[in-house]
Amino acid sequence: MQVPLRPAWLALAEHARSIKHRHLRDLFAADPGRFERFSLSQDRILLDYSKQRLDLHTMGLLRQLAEQAGWRNWIERMRAGEPINHTEGRPVRHVDLRAGNAAPAEVKDVLSRMAAFCEQIHDGRWRGFSGERITDVVNIGIGGSDLGPRMAVHALAAFEQLDLNVHFVSNLDSADLASTLTRLNPRSTLFVIASKTFTTLETMANANTARNWILASTGDKGAIARHFVAASTNLVATAEFGIAPENVFEFWDWVGGRFSLWSAIGLPIALAIGYRNFEQLLAGAHAMDAHFFSAPADTNLPLTLALVALWNTNFLDAHSHGVFPYSHSLALLPSHLQQLEMESNGKRANRDGLAVDYPTNPILWGEAGTNGQHSFFQLLHQGSALVACDFIALGKSDFPLPGHHSGLLASCLAQSSALAFGQTVEEARAAGIPEHLLAFRRFPGNQPSTTLVLPELTPFTLGQLIALYEHKVFCLGVLWNLNSFDQWGVELGKQLTGKLAPCIRDDAPSDALDASTRGLIKHLRQFRT
Ligand code: F6P
Repeated sequence: MQVPLRPAWLALAEHARSIKHRHLRDLFAADPGRFERFSLSQDRILLDYSKQRLDLHTMGLLRQLAEQAGWRNWIERMRAGEPINHTEGRPVRHVDLRAGNAAPAEVKDVLSRMAAFCEQIHDGRWRGFSGERITDVVNIGIGGSDLGPRMAVHALAAFEQLDLNVHFVSNLDSADLASTLTRLNPRSTLFVIASKTFTTLETMANANTARNWILASTGDKGAIARHFVAASTNLVATAEFGIAPENVFEFWDWVGGRFSLWSAIGLPIALAIGYRNFEQLLAGAHAMDAHFFSAPADTNLPLTLALVALWNTNFLDAHSHGVFPYSHSLALLPSHLQQLEMESNGKRANRDGLAVDYPTNPILWGEAGTNGQHSFFQLLHQGSALVACDFIALGKSDFPLPGHHSGLLASCLAQSSALAFGQTVEEARAAGIPEHLLAFRRFPGNQPSTTLVLPELTPFTLGQLIALYEHKVFCLGVLWNLNSFDQWGVELGKQLTGKLAPCIRDDAPSDALDASTRGLIKHLRQFRT
């Protein structure tokens, strides 16, 4: 059934008509206990959604909707290993990767191989072809095989193992690989080829060039085994590439790319911060899983984030979602969440293949605070778009320097407060703004936001945070009746690339192409060398 026909959806639509035009100022004035009523705390994480444009009735209806959509049943189906990714015929089992003692034997086996490998790299037992220690690791991967590990390594810089530099190369543009390799020595560089399929155009192009770079330095094909390891599900392709089977860290087709940082794809994280810290990352995610699976709807953090997102998207017409971590270390979180949310729920066919007639995932973007304040926050404060925002703050700084953190936190709270409450003309006048500037000094406010506070940024809390958003995505998929675990939308572009490459590289006929693409190809051919 189409989601809007669910009774709670219709009731929400009716309710939205009355609450839509209420200002956050009024909602706060009407309820002095609003913060206590609309904030949750779990395992030292605080989620304050009191600056969302909703009331108790809204939340009641949203939770009814979750019941009517069968959110618990979908959790059970996922945990039972049913192929809920039905268009690919696969179960969705990434939570098994971080289940600790309860993890499947094959998961534990790969984790212990990863632990042993990290140890060999860090204690210098693993040597390059000339006998030198490995000082640099380059992860070659893209999408889920890049964004999660890249974000986590950046986020956990305070836990970095100083004997090893970990780099990330993803782009097909040779500038990415070339600029990384110029700083490195082939004798002491190890590549992790991270690809679920081991067929991805960008990754294979970079991997082949990296292999040539090593071979140019030694000429001995046997050196590949000392300088390349892989994280993949495709053991045939890794062998064809020349990676020794004992250097392949396997994972499985039931791990979606954007949920794969917990698997062997997390190897660069384990190398960068040490295996014990990687285990803590898994433990944090596992703690969030346990909360999500057992907490009632009204105290369930991931469900609450999802319900608020649905309310903003489908009933308040906010089609843009900004994520602003007030943490330099979390600067790459928005990029990871972009793939996680937009590749999962950026869809228009529901689970039955019918076109939805309601908005699904909003456009997600973001930037670390305070940097964003000096670029696009102007639009949030006085532009015409309704943007739902997530602010993320840390109780303690991960790199404390006197005087910085309190200013950072003050900025975070100042922004969410200014966005919520704005400034009226009367307030501007009372503040001494001259009459001719009053119109420009008016801030409408009523921009909804949620603030998440982590006590500190550690592997454990980062694991909790990422898993929180993963389960939010799961809930939204249930509420929107989507399969959140396929990504057919990226296929068409890939197919066309295959067709166009010979037209650009060689002189393959382009007559059957559209006039614009034909014209662009003709123009680009003049630059061929
Ligand atoms: O771009 C689509 C996608 O399939 C992502 O879902 C995935 O994370 C990425 O490509 C990389 O795929 P692979 O790990 O197979 O190289």
